[in-house]
Amino acid sequence: MASEFIAFLILSTSFFLFISRAGAYGLAPAASPSSPTDPFVPFSPTASPSSPTDPFAPFPDGVPTPAPAPVPPPSSAIKAGYWFSGINPTSINLSYFTHIYYAFVELDNTSFEVVITPSDADILADFTATLHAHQPPVKAMLSIGGGGGGGDTFASMATNFSTRSAFIKSTIAVAREYNLDGLDLDWEFPVNPEKMASLGDLFMEWRDAIAREAAETGRPSLLLTSAVYFASHFFLPSYTPRSYPTDKMAVSLDWINAMCYDYHGAWNKTETGAPAALFDPKSNVSTSYGLTSWVEAGIPPKKVVMGLPLYSHTWQLKDPADHGIGAPAVGVGPGNEGVLVYSKVVDFNSENNATQVYDEVTVSVYSYAGTNWIGYDDPLTVTTKIEFAQELGLGGYFFWAIGYDKDWSISQRAWDAWQG
Ligand SMILES: *[C@@H]1O[C@H](CO)[C@@H](O)[C@H](O)[C@H]1NC(C)=O
Ligand SMILES: *[C@@H]1O[C@H](CO)[C@@H](O)[C@H](O)[C@H]1NC(C)=O
Ligand SMILES: *[C@@H]1O[C@H](CO)[C@@H](O)[C@H](O)[C@H]1NC(C)=O
Ligand SMILES: *[C@@H]1O[C@H](CO)[C@@H](O)[C@H](O)[C@H]1NC(C)=O
Ligand SMILES: *[C@@H]1O[C@H](CO)[C@@H](O)[C@H](O)[C@H]1NC(C)=O
Ligand SMILES: *[C@@H]1O[C@H](CO)[C@@H](O)[C@H](O)[C@H]1NC(C)=O
Repeated sequence: MASEFIAFLILSTSFFLFISRAGAYGLAPAASPSSPTDPFVPFSPTASPSSPTDPFAPFPDGVPTPAPAPVPPPSSAIKAGYWFSGINPTSINLSYFTHIYYAFVELDNTSFEVVITPSDADILADFTATLHAHQPPVKAMLSIGGGGGGGDTFASMATNFSTRSAFIKSTIAVAREYNLDGLDLDWEFPVNPEKMASLGDLFMEWRDAIAREAAETGRPSLLLTSAVYFASHFFLPSYTPRSYPTDKMAVSLDWINAMCYDYHGAWNKTETGAPAALFDPKSNVSTSYGLTSWVEAGIPPKKVVMGLPLYSHTWQLKDPADHGIGAPAVGVGPGNEGVLVYSKVVDFNSENNATQVYDEVTVSVYSYAGTNWIGYDDPLTVTTKIEFAQELGLGGYFFWAIGYDKDWSISQRAWDAWQG
């Protein structure tokens, strides 16, 4: 019991950092020493910035940086998942994934270089080797940022060419040092239109640097992806209206991971809600709206990857006899601050003989037992969402997060459901 509880705490702590809107989050302390032989070490004394072979050498004054060639969409389906930094990946059944994201690492708030802690350094070497040893090999991605904070640091970094450049160089150096296949930015979220414009500049320069590094070294180009809001624009009354720089994202990124979840949760305890509804007849806060908005904003459909949550949001019902979606609630239900991972939902339902309901209108499931109410996704809702995503011509799906599944049941169903 105790060890199970501790394991859950470890997982749910990473998880909580990701979804937490509070942002009280300490940056990891020290930047890792860089390998002296790596040509992309930032500020290396041996690499002169004006050396003609330096792929990061600025173009002469008056010569605009040529726009990088648009990156083609992925040629086969993306079946991805995020995995927790600091935890060894050996327990993952790699048969169910094409790409796994190591989540997360942070950037230093002064140098703006990506920080690899000693624990990250230990795990990352194994992480890549384990993924690459699988047949077929699974791509290893490094995800930078996360929902736990760091938004201000990203904002400071992204406003200025020289700090963007320091960040970009450090990410490429780390990716090559650990033999990773790609990089992922999870900036939650640029807070206004100016920050969105900086994000666009960052992606263009990042792609340019990645293309030049690949040309220079003859190595396959690193992948560049980004975890983004469920929709291409922020429209809720509580947010500053703003849109993602989709023109630049369409050409510079390999794909986006749209975080199609957390539509309802502990931040509103007064009524139950479907946390990741495919459809919502009453609002635009739904996966169908979000995914369509990305395509309408100009992201090629194959570059849009649908997020699927492997966790629930839970409530305490006001009246156990009133238990639909939108029923009055008085607080959070079981789990950590109203969040229960999918494997624990399955256990809770069976231990409490909970009633399970598939809601066709929203394409979501919920269960209730007494005053406990749990909203989540299961193998059936995930299958329906995948049919929707494929009809829209999307590139694939990803899970937050791999460790939350019940005996790979949803991962397996999704793998089988996505055709082609
Ligand atoms: C930068 O991070 C350090 C270490 O976490 C922290 O003590 C400091 O307050 C941060 N500075 C800023 C400007 O956020
Ligand atoms: C992983 O999944 C595959 C496909 O379902 C299965 O054949 C294999 O036995 C699983 N591996 C482990 C270690 O469970
Ligand atoms: C950009 O950042 C560099 C290095 O931190 C600093 O010297 C420069 O003044 C900054 N420029 C602007 C416009 O903020
Ligand atoms: C909670 O959600 C309901 C329904 O969407 C809404 O009417 C209410 O204002 C929300 N309460 C808060 C505190 O956001
Ligand atoms: C949803 O968005 C569309 C435009 O994108 C708008 O016309 C419609 O009124 C919105 N619906 C709701 C319920 O806000
Ligand atoms: C479980 O609930 C069903 C009705 O939902 C009931 O018929 C059955 O007796 C319950 N079983 C137990 C062990 O409580």
